[in-house]
Amino acid sequence: MYRKTYLEVNCENLKNNIINIKQNYPDYEYYFGVVKANAYGHGGYVINSLIEGGINYLAVSSLEEAIKLREYNTEISILILEPIHLQYLDKCIKHNITITVSNVEYFRELLTISLPQKLKIHIKLDTGMSRLGIKSSDELDKIISNLPNNPNLVLEGIYTHFATSGINDKHWDNQLDKFKEITKNIDLSTIPIVHMGRSLTLVNHAKIPFCNGIRLGIVMYGMSQNMPTPTGFKAFLRNIRNNHRKKKLHISPTTTTNNLNLQTAITLYSEVIELRKIQANDFVGYGAEFIAPKETIIATIPIGYADGIPSNIKHVVINEKLYKVVGSICMDMLCVSVDDNVKLYDKVTILGGDKLPVKTVANECGIKTYNLFTGIRNRVPRVYKNDDDYIEIEY
Ligand SMILES: Cc1ncc(COP(=O)(O)O)c(C=O)c1O
Repeated sequence: MYRKTYLEVNCENLKNNIINIKQNYPDYEYYFGVVKANAYGHGGYVINSLIEGGINYLAVSSLEEAIKLREYNTEISILILEPIHLQYLDKCIKHNITITVSNVEYFRELLTISLPQKLKIHIKLDTGMSRLGIKSSDELDKIISNLPNNPNLVLEGIYTHFATSGINDKHWDNQLDKFKEITKNIDLSTIPIVHMGRSLTLVNHAKIPFCNGIRLGIVMYGMSQNMPTPTGFKAFLRNIRNNHRKKKLHISPTTTTNNLNLQTAITLYSEVIELRKIQANDFVGYGAEFIAPKETIIATIPIGYADGIPSNIKHVVINEKLYKVVGSICMDMLCVSVDDNVKLYDKVTILGGDKLPVKTVANECGIKTYNLFTGIRNRVPRVYKNDDDYIEIEY
């Protein structure tokens, strides 16, 4: 690494998160680690820490992602959550990758291909999100009844994806009902893995009795999804209104707090590469968006929007102190108004640590934590901390 801008990833934190999640929610057989988008920005290297913590299946969004992960682990099962082009099935077989079947035409085509070896499939049901999946019991029955026509196709799983948390909304219940309706003619207990939930399902709902798998995404990376109960008169009124709605619409009970004790694993670092004193009325950066009201010390930091940080990031931390970002951030640099305590080459924290937690920064920038995690580009090297060892990887 020549430019000292990098993302440090604490592998122990990730492993401990999984252990903690499993301690709190021990009733599943399959804990899928959703590691698409380079493991939510953390990098594929982390999969072994997740597996050490207890993840026993991985899920990604593309064949590229699945094959890339084989560099780090050749054993663990990997499910691709989107349909892949069927001409690449040989790669799935070679790398022991499970595919998703999400419509009948796709399945029909799959049946015409002679498979040299077993290929695991999971059937995806569309229970309401309207993006992927089998929509009716007729369609599902067609697939199930045709499975014996290709003895190398192994039906290992069936799943859907929830669009909402189900807290104060009926969509979640409707999706669950739809799942039951689509699968009404099949005995779910004959399918090895039934998985519907994601992080929010895990923490907000009681376990769905017929599901033995859960797909963990954001929660693994340290976001407990704990929502402290709001207080005050407005919250009191909102609560009455929500409870009334829940009763009226028969919305199933949910919980918004949990006992998870998770930690995020990432800290994004850079350094001060220039310091300059500017005078009152001097401007900083493109568009002259910041005009100094008085003599000001400006530190220049080599990280910008091309590294994936939000363009409206507000603060950085240098020597344990928060400093304000001034001017518009550039493609590769940003400027900070500092004081004389800041020295050339001081380490700068852009994201993470006590003062810039992921959730706070996401809220300040008006984006979701998902965007913040997955936004960090691959040109930022990842440095993995495992006990006291550090290993640097460029993706
Ligand atoms: C199909 C599927 N399952 C599970 C997840 C994980 O979701 P979360 O990060 O909310 O747990 C995702 C994330 O986008 C997804 O697309």
